[in-house]
Amino acid sequence: MGRVYNIGIIKGDGIGPEIIEEAIRVLDAVCVKSNIHIKYEEFLLGGAAIDATGVPLPEETIKGVAKCDAVLFGAIGGPKWDNLERHLRPETGLLGLRKAMGTYANLRPATVYDELINASSLKPRIIEGVDLMVVRELTGGIYFGQPREILEDKAYNTMVYTKEEVKRIAKVAFDIAMKRDKKLCSVDKANVLEVSQFWRDIVIEMAKDYPEVELTHMYVDNAAMQLIRNPKQFDVILTGNIFGDILSDAASMLSGSIGLLPSASTGSGVGLFEPIHGSAPDIAGQGIANPIATIASASMMLRYALGENEAADKIDNAIKRVLKDGYRTGDLSAFDAKEVCATTEMGSLIADYASR
Ligand code: IPM
Ligand code: MN
Repeated sequence: MGRVYNIGIIKGDGIGPEIIEEAIRVLDAVCVKSNIHIKYEEFLLGGAAIDATGVPLPEETIKGVAKCDAVLFGAIGGPKWDNLERHLRPETGLLGLRKAMGTYANLRPATVYDELINASSLKPRIIEGVDLMVVRELTGGIYFGQPREILEDKAYNTMVYTKEEVKRIAKVAFDIAMKRDKKLCSVDKANVLEVSQFWRDIVIEMAKDYPEVELTHMYVDNAAMQLIRNPKQFDVILTGNIFGDILSDAASMLSGSIGLLPSASTGSGVGLFEPIHGSAPDIAGQGIANPIATIASASMMLRYALGENEAADKIDNAIKRVLKDGYRTGDLSAFDAKEVCATTEMGSLIADYASR
């Protein structure tokens, strides 16, 4: 029967269900060819979970995903749930899931497809050949720090990192750098924040174990500027939760569309794989969303969680091939498009190429 995997599926809200459907189509196509058998089990999260159960992260989801080999996730959130109290918001559900799964390391690669060199808002000579990886700490920092509160005339959040949290994410980044170009840039705000100085000191200490890695440090404001000025200087960027959130959105535009970039969240247990974009409620249900970020996330899942590198390569090559042949979803229709296609057509084309 081949290799069998249990995959958790979380469709979520907005364009989530549409893009996940295409990722499953591609997975099914490539797995048949590769003698892989995937069993899918669906779980609720975010707005969909609120509507069905009253809470954004049902206990069943936490328990269910823990039994999976990996989880593929679409996107959550939308105006319908924006006015709920914070603990009931879709985003709170996602943060709770990341924490419960222990996925502290969020890997966000930004690569530029040659075929889309004109799609970026930056000049081709600036972005040609960009290939960088943002390693974002995902379960700590200001997103989770206590105390946090809104009072009558003030409000606060707290940016906290423990030594253990910094060490384990830095280790992930150093290890990835060793497998790439051995350049690591740690991004912080050590000129202002104590927590950043603490972070930097730990990273410097750890660098002693990685003599081959060239370690640099950059303040986050400068890093935002350098990403736009000369992104090719970066190989691996290591940073905390909120800085990584912001920098990875910026990095996504190097590739031309946020609809292209996947992510992998790994840590102590089951991995969570999701596109870096949101639920795009403005285009939900129209069948025009770009499924490539989710399809590429499925490829990362095969590679990082299941060790199915050959199947992952097939998907990555199929994405390149489809773009090369001039197929574009609406977000990229202005860039060397031979044919503008709907979400399902894009998924079918990639599935077709991937199964050849
Ligand atoms: C992301 C998103 C999330 C985050 C939101 C939806 C909570 O922006 O995955 O980048 O801030 O982490
Ligand atoms: Mn974000």
